[in-house]
Amino acid sequence: MTQDEMKQAVADAALACIRPKLESNTVLGIGTGSTANLFIDALAGIKGLINATVASSEASAARLKSHGIVVYELNTVDQVDFYIDGADECNAALQLIKGGGAALTREKIMTAVAEEFICIADESKLVHTLGQFPLPVEVIPMARSHVARELVKLGGDPIYREGVVTDNGNVILDVYNFSIPQPLATEEKINNITGVVTNGLFALKPADVLLLGTTDGVQTIYAE
Ligand code: A5P
Repeated sequence: MTQDEMKQAVADAALACIRPKLESNTVLGIGTGSTANLFIDALAGIKGLINATVASSEASAARLKSHGIVVYELNTVDQVDFYIDGADECNAALQLIKGGGAALTREKIMTAVAEEFICIADESKLVHTLGQFPLPVEVIPMARSHVARELVKLGGDPIYREGVVTDNGNVILDVYNFSIPQPLATEEKINNITGVVTNGLFALKPADVLLLGTTDGVQTIYAE
């Protein structure tokens, strides 16, 4: 199975997982990235079974609308039943690095609201220790240099993601050479740097379940 086939398999598995639980008032949270895009395309086939969606990025909202799927602003809904999104890295505790697509802040808001976070990823994303993928940090533009200096003090090599402005009007620092053996503590430390909006560690609130695409098929993994 190729990586693309694994992504398609987990997108289909996520749909199969939630389908029996869908009700006419169900609101789905939709993530961002190539795997989430495949889920959006699959969802189009059963859009009549849900009330609406809330998207974690303008790009995903546009893709949902192109399929005729209703997209609400998060502030207008009372609940989000499921949030389905990919990841850049995942460990056995289902703690994640996200934000490769620069949507980390809205993604983290979605995970805070959703009843259940279903992560969909191919097996290349599963690692023992987070940090091989550079950790994205969304930063208020005027604080970029200050935050970068603080991230160096924590042991990382922050690089400004040139030319990228987030949906919230901010910039991204990607922290390279930054092994993260203690994701909870690191997530809190980076959140406490003045000028940081969000960091791409999803450890304080990890995924509830991981649907992992492997060469042998889709595995359903719960946190250890
Ligand atoms: C978007 O900001 C990210 O958090 C994505 O969820 C992540 O980059 C996964 O993307 P792919 O599904 O394209 O690998």
